[in-house]
Amino acid sequence: MADYFKNKADKWDDGTLRKSTPLAIAEAIKKRFDLTKEMEIMDFGVGTGLLGFEIAKDVKKVFGVDMSPSMLSKLREKNTPELSIEAIEQDIIKEPLDDIFDGIISSMTLHHVENLEAFFQSIYKNLSEGAFIAIADLEKEDGSFHSDNTGVYHFGFEKEKLCEIVKKCGFKDVSFENITTINKPQKDFGVFLLSAKR
Ligand SMILES: C[S@@+](CC[C@H](N)C(=O)[O-])C[C@H]1O[C@@H](n2cnc3c(N)ncnc32)[C@H](O)[C@@H]1O
Repeated sequence: MADYFKNKADKWDDGTLRKSTPLAIAEAIKKRFDLTKEMEIMDFGVGTGLLGFEIAKDVKKVFGVDMSPSMLSKLREKNTPELSIEAIEQDIIKEPLDDIFDGIISSMTLHHVENLEAFFQSIYKNLSEGAFIAIADLEKEDGSFHSDNTGVYHFGFEKEKLCEIVKKCGFKDVSFENITTINKPQKDFGVFLLSAKR
């Protein structure tokens, strides 16, 4: 499997624009769900941990899943004895995890998932009863967000279509809300948070 993020990992955390979106996502997640020190959370497509570390402050443990060794190597450099994420190098589309979590979070990774229904069916099995998902990504866009669309299967998402898939996979309390905007020179892109419970 190609590591599409090999050349991006080194500079991923540079600049305020890159960091501000995961921070806004973390804030929205904390507003919507009561995080506790008993919770074990999976961050799908954790990357360098921009979202995961924010959430790790409020829970027992974050397990960061990513198939990019270079992104995970940057993440491991940021681990400290006080605040850390356990990195799991795995493509969970091809090889799902068996573990059970109290919540699954994700920032800007869903557009890399080709078969959405298979994905939501799969992660449903990784959740305890009453556990939550909080998945953030781009609202529908015209394909101009990424300069290179390699590995991008969706140019953002439409609320109705995505919510329908998630409900079909058994989730309840499904909601989709705009939480922030990414301002790029070419245009502004809306970011949503999809939340639901098992
Ligand atoms: C756009 S980056 C987002 C990284 C981070 N969540 C953030 O907001 O900064 C997407 C990440 O998802 C990972 N990814 C994509 N598909 C994946 C899969 N099937 N299994 C595990 N990781 C995946 C990529 O390797 C990449 O690190």
